[in-house]
Amino acid sequence: MKVPGTPALELRSVRRAYGFGPSATVALDDVSLTVRPGSFVSLIGPSGCGKSTLLRLVAGLEQPDRGDVRVHGVTPAEACAAKMIGLVPQTPALLPWMSVLRNVTLPQKINRGAAKRRGRIAGFTERESAPAAPDMRELLVKAGLGEALHKLPAQLSGGMRQRVAIVRAFGLRPDMLVMDEPFSALDEFTRESLQDQLLDLWDELKTTVLFVTHSVSEAVRLSDTVVVMAPKPGRIVESIEVDLPRPRGERLFGEHRFHEYEDLIRDRLRRAWHSDAA
Ligand SMILES: Nc1ncnc2c1ncn2[C@@H]1O[C@H](COP(=O)(O)OP(=O)(O)OP(=O)(O)O)[C@@H](O)[C@H]1O
Ligand SMILES: [Mg+2]
Repeated sequence: MKVPGTPALELRSVRRAYGFGPSATVALDDVSLTVRPGSFVSLIGPSGCGKSTLLRLVAGLEQPDRGDVRVHGVTPAEACAAKMIGLVPQTPALLPWMSVLRNVTLPQKINRGAAKRRGRIAGFTERESAPAAPDMRELLVKAGLGEALHKLPAQLSGGMRQRVAIVRAFGLRPDMLVMDEPFSALDEFTRESLQDQLLDLWDELKTTVLFVTHSVSEAVRLSDTVVVMAPKPGRIVESIEVDLPRPRGERLFGEHRFHEYEDLIRDRLRRAWHSDAA
């Protein structure tokens, strides 16, 4: 059994600076954040406030200078080794010579051995340590890629490639899915449809999601918690709980409370922006 009450993610007084002395860039200063298992958390804030740095620390690609990062109670390096973390970068990195289907099934095959390690680390029972791998064909069809199973990445649009990358990340059943502005390059309607698909998969697979976006409406629509950040030094200024019912379909956009959340977050972002000028 997983230890009850262990957060999916915990950052304690994390600092990360680039360079030394007075010219150092403090990308993150005294950042603390606790994320419940299964929740959807978005990071939003002006360019340079440390969102990608925070994701890199969580994904174990960088170390904090001070403070502590834990994913389900273990270090990011241990969590990565056990394939507990899935990363969806801003631009999808697919293998160009492999079909859509092989792109998503290959990592699953390669990582089969990780399930046991993951069981030991996260304290799963033997049965829980080997969750049924999702049927990738089914997930691709659900993501609207049924016609594209045997196509090569070069034959797909940008939005389709992004969907393949998301399905691939979900295919490993990560405990924590880390996404850096995955929809930023897409048109509004493709973006909304991908948001729907992401929410469906999230609901089905009960993954914790840490999501970076510059879009206020996207953050409100997707998230349980929106974390507003400010730059120089990069820091968290406020965590806003979004108490709106799910599923959050198109009708949400017409609702007063949705726009109240948008206004609140915009106000905090404006302040974050001005605090930078000081
Ligand atoms: N490898 C690096 N070397 C030096 N400075 C860096 C490095 N990576 C990030 N920084 C600096 O750290 C700060 C935070 O960068 P980060 O990429 O985390 O911001 P961000 O919030 O993701 O911005 P954006 O919204 O533009 O993606 C910035 O001032 C950036 O210039
Ligand atoms: Mg970034």
